[in-house]
Amino acid sequence: MNRTLVPMIAIAVLGLGIPSAHADTDGAKLFNSKCKMCHAIDSKKVGPAVKAMSTDAGVLRNTIINGRKMMPRFGKRLDAAQVDALVSYIQEQQGDQADK
Ligand code: HEC
Repeated sequence: MNRTLVPMIAIAVLGLGIPSAHADTDGAKLFNSKCKMCHAIDSKKVGPAVKAMSTDAGVLRNTIINGRKMMPRFGKRLDAAQVDALVSYIQEQQGDQADK
C-alpha cells in the first residue's frame, strides 16, 4: 500500500511540484504567498533573484528574520520552522542550478 506513496513523497521532497500536505511549513507555498511579490527565482524584481541570493543558511535566516533595507522583517510573522522551510526552499532552487 505504501509502494506508490513513498516515491511520491520523495518527489515532493525533491521539489518537483507535487503539493505537500503540510501547508504551514511548505517552503514553496510560503515563498509564493509571502515573498514572490518581491523575489523571482531567476530574475531581479524588487529584491534579488533567489539564484542570486547568498547560499549561506545563516545569512538567509538572518535576513528573513530581521530584514535588511527594503526587505521586510518576517521574524514576528513566521515561526522558526517556517523560516527553516524557506531557507531550504531557497537553497533547493539554488541547488537546481548546480545539479542539473
Ligand atoms: C517588499 C519586498 C520584499 C518582500 C515581500 C520580501 N523581500 Fe526579500 N528582499 C527584498 C529586497 C529589496 C532585498 C535586498 C535587500 C538589500 O538591499 O540588502 C531582499 C533581500 C533578501 C534576502 C538576502 C539575499 C542575500 O543575498 O543576502 C533574502 C534571503 C530574502 N530577501 C528572502 C526573502 C524571503 C524568504 C521573503 C518572504 C518571506 C522575502 N524575502 C520577502 C525585498 C523583499
